[in-house]
Amino acid sequence: MKSLGVIGKAVSAQIAGWLIVLAVLFVIANTGGSMPSVWLIGVTQAAGSVAVAYLLRSDRWWLFIHFVFSAAVIIFRQTGVDPTWYLAAFLVLLFVFGPSYRSRVPLYLSSQKTINVVSDWLTQQGFAAKQDARFLDFGSGTGSMILGLAKRHPDQQFVGVEAAWFPYLVSRLRALGQSNVQTCRKSFWDISLADYPVVYAFLSTEPMPRLWEKAKQEMSPGTFLISNSFIVPNVTPQQTLSVNDDRQTMLYVYRI
Ligand SMILES: C[S@@+](CC[C@H](N)C(=O)[O-])C[C@H]1O[C@@H](n2cnc3c(N)ncnc32)[C@H](O)[C@@H]1O
Repeated sequence: MKSLGVIGKAVSAQIAGWLIVLAVLFVIANTGGSMPSVWLIGVTQAAGSVAVAYLLRSDRWWLFIHFVFSAAVIIFRQTGVDPTWYLAAFLVLLFVFGPSYRSRVPLYLSSQKTINVVSDWLTQQGFAAKQDARFLDFGSGTGSMILGLAKRHPDQQFVGVEAAWFPYLVSRLRALGQSNVQTCRKSFWDISLADYPVVYAFLSTEPMPRLWEKAKQEMSPGTFLISNSFIVPNVTPQQTLSVNDDRQTMLYVYRI
């Protein structure tokens, strides 16, 4: 069932819910029964899609989403809001979160205190003393990390790769006039890590095993992967840095 993917499972469960409704309506029509109310149809669809999502082993929160989805559609249809607004909201979400549905990495930003701790760590490691040393933010969001570091370390280069258009454009604008910052809009899986002595990632649990494999293959021995909040499963970090911010951020430093 893993091959269906998260979105595949969600769409399959919804379609299955509606097929169950159609089957029930077909039986009622052929037995001369009276048609159920729109709410009964909604509840049947919700129960069917929840059951199918459960059988497909979807994560628990998806069961809740399937349960309320059809009811939400019915309620919003009755408000009389022009459907174009829903399309517009969908396009805005796509613009901001872009590829998150596939990579399972949403947009949230490193705190100022995290940027300070990474900056101090770079200084301790001698990175800041090397002219033109390069730092990569793997999924750079709106560029907070690379811009914060670039101001503190003007002789080093800070590169960000970001797939979603909105955060990428914000980072481009913010980087105007900051000559030691470069940003590019593409998937981080499509770039090589070979040129970077330090790679920083603030992602989610999902891509960490793949990122670690990529880092081992492409980065040179003695270089570093810093992961904000998410560990590489079954790999012991060389160092753990705790940040005294609202999230009590943990930074895991892996030596390649
Ligand atoms: C948690 S945010 C971290 C942002 C930034 N690194 C920071 O610390 O402030 C992760 C970012 O990775 C981006 N992302 C997700 N999948 C990606 C992909 N395949 N390629 C490039 N960026 C991606 C998301 O759009 C999001 O902006």
